Amino acid sequence: MKKKITVPEIRACKGGDKVITMVTSYDYTSAKLVDESDVDMILVGDSLGMTMLGYHGTVGVTLDDMIYHTSHVVKGAPNTFVIGDMPFGSYNVSTEEAVRNANKLFMESGCDCIKLEGGADMAPIIKAIVKAGIPVSGHIGLTPQTMAMMGGFKVQGKSLQAAQEILDAARAVEEAGAFMVVLEGIPTMLADVITKKISIPTMGIGAGAVCDMQVLVAQDMLGMNDWVPKFVKKFADLHTVVIGAYNDFVKECNARTFPNHDTQYNAVIEGIENLK
Ligand code: KIV
Repeated sequence: MKKKITVPEIRACKGGDKVITMVTSYDYTSAKLVDESDVDMILVGDSLGMTMLGYHGTVGVTLDDMIYHTSHVVKGAPNTFVIGDMPFGSYNVSTEEAVRNANKLFMESGCDCIKLEGGADMAPIIKAIVKAGIPVSGHIGLTPQTMAMMGGFKVQGKSLQAAQEILDAARAVEEAGAFMVVLEGIPTMLADVITKKISIPTMGIGAGAVCDMQVLVAQDMLGMNDWVPKFVKKFADLHTVVIGAYNDFVKECNARTFPNHDTQYNAVIEGIENLK
């Protein structure tokens, strides 16, 4: 059986041969599947706004949504390290409120650490949450919660100045005490420099194979949607498989070939013809 990876083991993967992997999960059944696989970590991302709740982005997801989904994932994946995402609005008002909300997510969901977006501006908040005893993952580069400021889901850090800002953000997150940092939507060249210049492991999504670890959104990598971003590989085509299964069900019901003798209860009830 898989053994749950720990924070020190995640830290120790830096520069090693093993690439620690993570996928998103938002519910008990999918978490159970991840738990049975070789994937090391689960992210209950606020991407659940899009994948589970049908929103256009992550803003609008509440702390209660995160606690609800994360707690069910934790139940389904007892042997997998689970990250709970702090949603927009839960850590940008004051440090005190951020610590209170991080405590709430950590204690009520049972996750193994929390993740929040941002660089130097968020450093005091990361520091305070770590001081409170909660492991923190940073998240820099393309940060979906501040998509409005970035003008959409766009690759970040393409100019020298923008690249320097993201490297500075990585250093700020590291210095604040985060034990890992997600690098999203940045050129591979920049991810390589950051990975080499900081001492905590980097987890890439749209950041190339140079990162210490890799994460993908389950719905994307399982091919549940027709369209996926450039950085995604569909490792399965569940869109075709699932719609095919639904359509076969409809066909067989209409042909009365399902249910059949094997998929019905065949108990013989003596005298059934006497029922009034
Ligand atoms: O919410 C999420 O799924 C994420 C990943 C894109 C890293 O933050």
